[in-house]
Amino acid sequence: MLKQLEELKLKVLRELEEVSEIKELESWRVRYLGKKSELTRILRSLATLPLEQRKTIGALANEVRADLESSLKQKRQTLREAQVVIQTKEEQFDTTLPGRPLPIGHLHPITQTLYEICDIFISMGFQVVEGPEVEWDYYNFESLNIPKEHPARDTMSTLWVDSKAESDERCMLLRTHTTSMQLRVMEKTPPPLRVIIPGKVYRYEASDATHTPMFHQIDGLVVDKGITMADLKGTLYEVVRRFFGEDRKVRFRCDYFPFVEPGAEMAIECSVCSGNGCRLCGNSGWIEILGAGMTHPQVLQRAGLDPEVYSGFAFGMGVDRIPMLRYWIDNIRLFYNSDLRFLRQF
Ligand code: DAH
Repeated sequence: MLKQLEELKLKVLRELEEVSEIKELESWRVRYLGKKSELTRILRSLATLPLEQRKTIGALANEVRADLESSLKQKRQTLREAQVVIQTKEEQFDTTLPGRPLPIGHLHPITQTLYEICDIFISMGFQVVEGPEVEWDYYNFESLNIPKEHPARDTMSTLWVDSKAESDERCMLLRTHTTSMQLRVMEKTPPPLRVIIPGKVYRYEASDATHTPMFHQIDGLVVDKGITMADLKGTLYEVVRRFFGEDRKVRFRCDYFPFVEPGAEMAIECSVCSGNGCRLCGNSGWIEILGAGMTHPQVLQRAGLDPEVYSGFAFGMGVDRIPMLRYWIDNIRLFYNSDLRFLRQF
């Protein structure tokens, strides 16, 4: 029996050695130290043995039990410590390390241009106003001297939103120009007023190298007593000088827009061909950047202003073409294709 006990001890300790998880320790304990274990059975049977044997075997059996119990305790301790090490390793991180950079984007080149132009006007005392992209026929056309049968409507291939409206004035459309905000501003703001209106505009147009069905414009409006064509010219020349540089050649000539009288247009020398003619400028050497003029007396009247007392000037420029000129981009659609290889360059 002594031998049996020795063998049992060795076997059981070897098994304990192999335990690698704390939760397995309990079943080991039940199996070898529990009520039904071999050791307990031996201890119980001691009473039936002759005295001599009882002493030696009893002593050894108790020794084995004490050994197993202390080994178990130690094993539990070791496993616990190992677990703590694993946990802290996982939690450990160096708070002094620089953070991982997040992939932050930047403003779209057209938005950048829009903001830059707005900043120039803001520095000249203009306020920025925004308006609805879905607009009444009245504000987009009628209020600007473009009644239903006017040919100027044909130049703006309109996207109508609701064709079943009760009357023509109540028809809705996607605004074809930011000029649609001019009367809204005049109705709400008594002169003197000096505003710019940046935003998106829409036309029913197929896209090509220089056209997209949605693009950006900035309109401007100044109304006060004694505003003249000199104010218009002075303001716009200054903006172009600041934005495109002192040396850029500018062309200013007559044009027609129903809501201004007289009307004008401004063009700058094409940067791609330096005025020699290329695909971007349609071989003319010039790129038109804005329409402008003195606010039509009827438009002022519609806003409740007396044209004998007040006068104003207005302008409207396309924004999308400007970064094209600046960065020599020959296809406007590149701005809208969401190709990051292109957009990351700005
Ligand atoms: N709205 C015109 C267009 O989209 C541009 C324009 C011309 C705006 C003259 C104006 C202006 O405010 O006075 O073609």
